[in-house]
Amino acid sequence: MLTRIAVLASGAGSNLVAIMEHLAALGSARAGEVVLVISDRAAAGAIAHAGERGIPYEHIPAIDAERLSSVLVDHDIDMVVLAGYLARVPRTVTSRFAGRVINVHPALLPSFGGLGMYGRRVHEAVLAAGERVSGLTVHFVDDEYDHGAVIAQWRVPVLAGDDADTLARRVLDAEHLVYPRVVDLVAAAIARSAVP
Ligand code: GRF
Repeated sequence: MLTRIAVLASGAGSNLVAIMEHLAALGSARAGEVVLVISDRAAAGAIAHAGERGIPYEHIPAIDAERLSSVLVDHDIDMVVLAGYLARVPRTVTSRFAGRVINVHPALLPSFGGLGMYGRRVHEAVLAAGERVSGLTVHFVDDEYDHGAVIAQWRVPVLAGDDADTLARRVLDAEHLVYPRVVDLVAAAIARSAVP
């Protein structure tokens, strides 16, 4: 049976698109399907992408934890995928979906993570620290920002002359390659109940 995935996104939604395209390309070999998109921002590109593809979507303000939980339950969601979701996931969701909520962070956690470390700021901090390597981390989500168990990491070089934008682009390209594949793997593990 296909794992029913809800994607939560606040921004442009390029990871959402990469995930939907990868699962579509896998066809009958895919382990999961995106059946719902939720955004805390009505104007998020992610909502437009869902609309274009006929995928049900909801705008749920970050403060409405109760509605978020009940919408996930109403849609019979098995797995929650954060893709550029900037709000904190409420405890009701992390406990009901323990081991079934994942996120991608644009750096090698535990470095350059935590409260306030998102978007451009992450890449600025990596450059300011003089790192030669950055990357991405896919991890389970618990109650602390960027804290849950790591599922996968992918290293990306920091090149001479990089600024936050060029580094962000290189990391984002890697996210588009890696995150959809990890989403499918975790969906397969959930389908086999192989997630703790
Ligand atoms: C990505 O860099 C991701 O790592 C971070 O937010 C960004 C989302 O971009 N959590 P998009 O909305 O998927 O284009």
